[in-house]
Amino acid sequence: MKRPVAALAGLGTFVPAQVLTNADFERMLDTSDTWITERTGIRERRIASAEETIAVMAREASVKALAEAGLDAGALDTIILSTATPDRPLPSAACDLQALLGAGNAAAFDLGAACSGWLYGLTVAESMLAAGTSRCALVVGAEKLSAITDYTDRSTAVLFGDGAGAAVLVPSDGARGILAAHLKSDGKLAELLFRPGGGSKDPPSERMLKERTYFIKMAGREVFKSAVRSMADAADRALEQAGISGEQVDLLIPHQANIRIIEATAEHARIAMERVFVNVDRFGNTSSASIPLALDEARAAGRLRPGMTVLLVAFGAGFTWGSILLKW
Ligand code: ACO
Repeated sequence: MKRPVAALAGLGTFVPAQVLTNADFERMLDTSDTWITERTGIRERRIASAEETIAVMAREASVKALAEAGLDAGALDTIILSTATPDRPLPSAACDLQALLGAGNAAAFDLGAACSGWLYGLTVAESMLAAGTSRCALVVGAEKLSAITDYTDRSTAVLFGDGAGAAVLVPSDGARGILAAHLKSDGKLAELLFRPGGGSKDPPSERMLKERTYFIKMAGREVFKSAVRSMADAADRALEQAGISGEQVDLLIPHQANIRIIEATAEHARIAMERVFVNVDRFGNTSSASIPLALDEARAAGRLRPGMTVLLVAFGAGFTWGSILLKW
């Protein structure tokens, strides 16, 4: 097993206070709590207010991560922010976050890998630490999916929620940190899960608003099948790299999109559900914020303890997928 070069020195998260429950959806759409719970495992999700922008939610999470690491924002030389919902198209949300944090010594940039973005960000930051181009990196996943969710479309409206998670990555002491990482994409499948309008190909227009192309569109059943296949493959790759089996994993933290995808991933990797952390029931799919939110909650619940071997697996639009094996 490789000696880790980078480790998480601090982790912080933020979720908005406003809760949208399945009962709320029963009043808004032709759906039921039973359907949503059985098909997705989701019971409620958080919805950001107008003031809870990407930069603000990312700052809240980042301040906690920095405090745990015992570092000032000035110690950061790199800020990587994964989001599918930046506050504005230009400049990057990472630069807005940098300004809010007062992280004047950092280079800041956004990373686009949808729900896999936090794992992509950690892997990029780890590579920068290994190459010596960074000594202290902040990796954030922040999402306001409520802003691009069509609340008249029952097949997507019930799935998504808002939130943010952040980690500070520093050189490892050689014992804790990232043991293996695997990233993969398949752009041929992009239009199974995408937001067609609002970019330079289909700039904001009356037609865009009328046709509702501003919102997420998803071929749910196809995405489901690809997610199961790709997350299984991603889990295999990280375990292979580290030369261990699923039985040796203490805790699996999968992207929280759907309980059935989580169960299929765990079964494939031979990780019993007692060793899987699930909070999709309370937050829905928060895209790139979902894994740090689950890590933080697992830790608070005493499920994630020092010395544990932890497998993180993600899948998202692109399609993108990936995995990271950590010694916590
Ligand atoms: N309430 C009631 N009925 C619904 C709802 C709803 N909220 N949504 C869809 N249905 C209906 C459909 O209209 C359809 O009805 P029909 O048979 O009369 O046409 C029926 O339920 C079955 O629809 P399917 O889409 O085939 O249902 P499925 O079992 O596949 O579940 C779901 C849909 C939950 C979206 C599932 O496909 C899924 O989870 N896919 C993966 C989604 C996902 O995880 N995306 C994110 C991954 S990537 C990322 O995180 C960005």
